[in-house]
Amino acid sequence: MAFVAIVKPTHICNLACTYCYNDDVRDPIMKDNTLNRVIDQVVLYASQLPQPIRKIEFIWHGGEPTVPGLRFYEKVVAQQKQCSNIHIENSIQTNGVLINEKWLKFFKENNFGISISIDGPRHLHDRFRVDGRGRGSFDRVFAAIQRVKDFGLPVGVCIVISRANIDHIDEIFDFLIEHNLAFNIIPLNRSGSARENYEDVGLDADEYGDAWIRMYDRWFESGDKYVYCQDFVLKTRAILQGKPADCIGLAHCADLNVSIDPVGDVYACATLSGHEETRYGNIVESPLVDLMHSSTALAYRDREVDPHCSKCKWQHVCHGGCLARSYKFFGNHHRRDYYCPSLFKIYEHISRRVLEQGFRIADPCEGHMDKDHFATVPNMPPPSRSDVVQIYSSSKPTGTISIPVVVEM
Ligand SMILES: C[S@@+](CC[C@H](N)C(=O)[O-])C[C@H]1O[C@@H](n2cnc3c(N)ncnc32)[C@H](O)[C@@H]1O
Ligand code: SF4
Ligand code: SF4
Repeated sequence: MAFVAIVKPTHICNLACTYCYNDDVRDPIMKDNTLNRVIDQVVLYASQLPQPIRKIEFIWHGGEPTVPGLRFYEKVVAQQKQCSNIHIENSIQTNGVLINEKWLKFFKENNFGISISIDGPRHLHDRFRVDGRGRGSFDRVFAAIQRVKDFGLPVGVCIVISRANIDHIDEIFDFLIEHNLAFNIIPLNRSGSARENYEDVGLDADEYGDAWIRMYDRWFESGDKYVYCQDFVLKTRAILQGKPADCIGLAHCADLNVSIDPVGDVYACATLSGHEETRYGNIVESPLVDLMHSSTALAYRDREVDPHCSKCKWQHVCHGGCLARSYKFFGNHHRRDYYCPSLFKIYEHISRRVLEQGFRIADPCEGHMDKDHFATVPNMPPPSRSDVVQIYSSSKPTGTISIPVVVEM
């Protein structure tokens, strides 16, 4: 299991997607001393966490994480190589536009996972993923994906479901299969530009679930055309194991995830940058261990239980859904996720599908609400591999990272 640090070297971007969730108007690039401190403090903090935390995942995010240049990441890996007491992995979530051979060589040498954002074929992607002059970015992004593949590196793609593409689920899935792309799928958050444009870009709370189910069924039945989908795999795994498999489902996701912005401000999640009331403090000024015990951090780490969730049959895998979305939609991270109606439908559907196939559905994991419920993980018998080989036998490819994976088989 990993401690996940989503680090944003900058909020600056070479594109200007009309739904971009960035709410932070400050636009510096992370300074060397801040970067040193981030790596140092994350390693120190994670190394002191109890088992089963065995590694750190740094997810380089933004803004556009390639904007600070390759030199920035050379410093990252140079410093990480000094840290021998814990296993470290790196991934980058990028629009791909700036990735050239030099970047690819570096990613290969340093084993970086690569996830590129693309929202489907050109006419869907180009609706909202545009540059500062309003020109669609599809050709540049797709060429980047091709460059990564031609270089022989694995790549995953991240698809945001918004008003642009929700009515084109089959087309998106055909596109993914045609190009053999491992993917992740996330619903639009009401944040940044998407807040201003919500009427044009946003989704109803339950319609995402219908789209998700449509794609899940195509995926479930895809046979030898199978491509890995992180969200499908993890949610299915959650149902089969009776416990959450991604940060969105954890009762205490903020214990294991932090996001750090270009000036070193620390938050529970990447979308919260720029919201002063959600800021734990600054990592240059205070040790991460102190920030994780600040009153703001403790409020995020001990999310209250929404009364609907305590009565819900899927609480043990969902725990109110994404707290950052709750904050963005309702201004209160204690409330259940805006997409609750979708999440409920999704879990119902998965359970139906796996039961149909004769699989077992696990009872709720004991202690799933406890702070230390991860301690119970080794006692949970995982479903046998032969039982579930069709559903999640594929090992997680690098890429597919925009929801941090925190529980592993
Ligand atoms: C903010 S971007 C930063 C990294 C990089 N610039 C990119 O586009 O991949 C991280 C991910 O969030 C997604 N995203 C952006 N705005 C969003 C929103 N309002 N709701 C949900 N996801 C969003 C992007 O599509 C991308 O996959
Ligand atoms: S989603 Fe990524 S590529 Fe698009 S504007 Fe935001 S940071 Fe830039
Ligand atoms: S499906 Fe809805 S009610 Fe049930 S746990 Fe998730 S957010 Fe709460």
